[in-house]
Amino acid sequence: MYRAGALGVLITFFLIIWATVLMPMVLFNPKPSGNGNVYSYDEKAHADPARGRRVFVREGCFYCHTQFTRLQDRGYGPLVKAGDYVFETPHQLGTARTGPDLTNEGGKFPSEWQKAHLINPRAVKPGSIMPSFSYLSDKDMNDLVAYIQTLGNGREKKVTAYVEAPEEYKLALATKTVDTNSDAAANAGRGLYIQNCAACHGMEGLGNGPNSISLEKKPANFTRPFYKQYPDDFWFYRITEGVPGTRMPRWGDGATLADPRGGILTPEQRWYLVAYLKTLSKDRDREETVDNLRQLNKVKVEQLPILTKEQWEPPSGGE
Ligand code: HEC
Ligand code: HEC
Repeated sequence: MYRAGALGVLITFFLIIWATVLMPMVLFNPKPSGNGNVYSYDEKAHADPARGRRVFVREGCFYCHTQFTRLQDRGYGPLVKAGDYVFETPHQLGTARTGPDLTNEGGKFPSEWQKAHLINPRAVKPGSIMPSFSYLSDKDMNDLVAYIQTLGNGREKKVTAYVEAPEEYKLALATKTVDTNSDAAANAGRGLYIQNCAACHGMEGLGNGPNSISLEKKPANFTRPFYKQYPDDFWFYRITEGVPGTRMPRWGDGATLADPRGGILTPEQRWYLVAYLKTLSKDRDREETVDNLRQLNKVKVEQLPILTKEQWEPPSGGE
């Protein structure tokens, strides 16, 4: 009797392993997407990104950095596909995002910046909790920086916009019936906004509406200069699909294939909202930060503060 029971447990266990591990391993064979990273030797910098990748693995960067973009992400570039990783062994997907996702990090900052950041993250990002990798040899450092600069280099288009809507929303632009740059549309959007959005996002779009108090993930503050870079299709996509993992509603919910014009708010209403939200973001002048690319190009590595150990390590010996 016991034996039958034990056998049952064993069979169940192996069935689960078979279905969740072995079957996908055999059946899931994504074709190379052609978007994977390309690691070719950098003659100019005398650096080998393929070797830099091994440094990345060795130093455990993936404990804190992922390399996949998800639907709810913003600012990390276009979505990835399984086929992007066919030649990535071992893959560097990672699981935790203590630091930002690095899928499309290549070209985001100058190499000088990357190096300064790796030597002492606090020198270019005050308040960063990333550990210093100042102990890397020159060769390791150069190769690692070359690797960082290749991330995302195999995408069909060069990643210039870090905020990009899925394909179907780019197509939606063609069916747009509202002039999203007109004051009249923005005004219509404002009315809809006060009715549907202000309770969470606040009367002035600061993300501080009365409902925000009870939300763990706070509503977006549309006055941030960050939102200046949002293209129309991305606004439309966000409003239509909401933000997974937050209380932001899917305002396009209810639309069916037969009646794509359905939804809690019609596409027209959502475009009016786009026109309004676009007017809220402030200019960058009030929010210059060190990670501003234009500013960084002027920073020379020699000019960066050379901090002594005492300056960036808390004094030992008690609180
Ligand atoms: C303990 C966690 C941790 C580890 C380990 C770590 N990082 Fe970071 N990293 C962070 C955090 C937090 C940030 C965000 C703050 C900042 O930019 O310094 C960051 C930021 C970065 C950025 C800037 C990303 C951007 O677009 O702003 C890069 C590039 C980077 N890390 C590369 C690396 C590399 C390469 C390694 C391995 C040698 C590494 N990190 C290891 C936590 C970590
Ligand atoms: C129940 C509260 C709630 C309501 C109502 C609400 N939102 Fe949101 N909204 C959120 C939250 C929470 C987020 C997520 C913020 C984040 O991801 O950090 C969000 C995010 C967004 C974003 C994405 C911003 C980004 O960073 O990409 C847009 C756009 C947006 N809301 C527009 C609207 C519009 C337009 C309406 C009204 C039609 C609306 N929201 C109504 C809570 C709400």
